[in-house]
Amino acid sequence: MERLQINLGERSYPIYIGEGLFSRLQEIKPTGDRYLLLTDQNVDVYYGDLVMTAIGREKCHKYIIAPGESSKTMETVIQILSYMLDCQFTRKSVIIALGGGVVGDIAGFCASIYMRGIHWIQLPTTLLAQVDSSVGGKTGVNMPQGKNVIGSFYQPQVVVIDTDVLKTLPRRELISGIGEVIKYGIICDYNFFSYIHNHLPSLLTLEKDILEKVIYRCCKMKAEVVAADEREGGLRKILNFGHTFGHGLEAAANYEYYTHGEAVLIGMMVESKIALGMDWIDETYYKEITEAIEKTGISLDISHMDRELLLEKMLRDKKNQENKISFILPKGKGKVQEVLLPKEAVVW
Ligand SMILES: NC(=O)c1ccc[n+]([C@@H]2O[C@H](COP(=O)([O-])OP(=O)(O)OC[C@H]3O[C@@H](n4cnc5c(N)ncnc54)[C@H](O)[C@@H]3O)[C@@H](O)[C@H]2O)c1
Ligand SMILES: [Zn+2]
Repeated sequence: MERLQINLGERSYPIYIGEGLFSRLQEIKPTGDRYLLLTDQNVDVYYGDLVMTAIGREKCHKYIIAPGESSKTMETVIQILSYMLDCQFTRKSVIIALGGGVVGDIAGFCASIYMRGIHWIQLPTTLLAQVDSSVGGKTGVNMPQGKNVIGSFYQPQVVVIDTDVLKTLPRRELISGIGEVIKYGIICDYNFFSYIHNHLPSLLTLEKDILEKVIYRCCKMKAEVVAADEREGGLRKILNFGHTFGHGLEAAANYEYYTHGEAVLIGMMVESKIALGMDWIDETYYKEITEAIEKTGISLDISHMDRELLLEKMLRDKKNQENKISFILPKGKGKVQEVLLPKEAVVW
C-alpha cells in the first residue's frame, strides 16, 4: 500500500493506494457518528455491500443514485440532503463517496453544504476518479446553462483508492481515465509520458505494479499542482491541456457521444497539432504524442463534427479573454504554457 499526503495546511489529508483496501476501511479509523454511503446503481452491485460491512452496517445508511452525468443536478443534491435530514444526520456524520467522478462531485458538494459542512471520504472507483477527480477538492453539479457551474472547493478527510475495483470497470471507462494519465506526462513529466507510452498494454490489462505506480504518480502530480494553487488562480490551469478542445467536443456532441477522457484524448491530439504549427514542439515529439493517443484504440476521426459549432462552444469557456480562446499547449517535452488564440488560429 502506498500513502500520499496532500499538503493544504489545515485541510491536508492522506490518499491510500493499494489492492483490497475497501475491506480494510476500519484501519483509517472513520470518526462519524453515522455514515451516508453515496453510490450509483452500477457500483452498488459490485461494492455496496463490501463497503457497508467494512464501515459497520449499524451506523451506515445507503443512498443510491442513477449512474451517469444526468444525475449530477441540483435535484439530486436536494433529494440527498432531504434524505439526510429525514434520517437525522448530524454535524458529526460523514458522507462516503463510493463511485466515479459523478458520485464524488455530488457527494463532496452535499458534504460542503450539509449543516454548513461535514466530513467526507472518497472511495473512487473509476480510473479517472482515482487519478484526477478525487484529488483537489473540486465538487459540484451541472445546470442547464453549463457543466460544473455550481459547486465548491471542499477537501475530503481521506481518499482510499482500491485498485482491485478497476477489474469491473468497462474498458471504455478505463481508456477514459488513461486520457488523463497521458495528460499528466505531457504537462509535467516527459519520463512519465514515455513510461506510459511504453507500458500502455500492461496498464490496459491492469498489471498490479504498473497500475499502482501510475496512480501514485498521477495523484502526486495533481497534489503538487493543487497544493501550489488550490483555487485555480494560475498553475492549476495546466491541468486543462486537451480540455479546451475536449470540452468543446463534449458540448458540441451534447455530452452524449464522447466520454470525458475520450474527448480529452482527441483534444490533446488537436492541441498538440496547434503547438506544432506554432513551433512550440517538434515533429518527433508530436509523433510520440499522437502515437500514444492512437494506442488507446479510440476513434480519432472528428470529421463529422460541425466546425463552427465546436468553435462556438470553445468561445464560451470561462477562461477565455477578449474573445480569444485560452489553450494550454505543450511547449517542449513535459512542459505546457497558456496561450490565447483567435478562433481563426484554431485548426484541426
Ligand atoms: N472534481 C474534479 O476535479 C473532477 C475532475 C475530472 C472530472 N470530474 C467529473 O467526473 C465526472 C466523470 O467521472 P467518471 O469518468 O468517473 O464517470 P462516472 O462517475 O459517470 O462513472 C462512469 C461509469 O462507470 C461506472 N462505474 C464506476 N466505477 C465502476 C467500477 N469499479 N466497476 C464498474 N462500473 C463502474 C459508473 O456507474 C458509470 O456508469 C464528470 O462529471 C466530471 O465533471 C471532476
Ligand atoms: Zn479532465
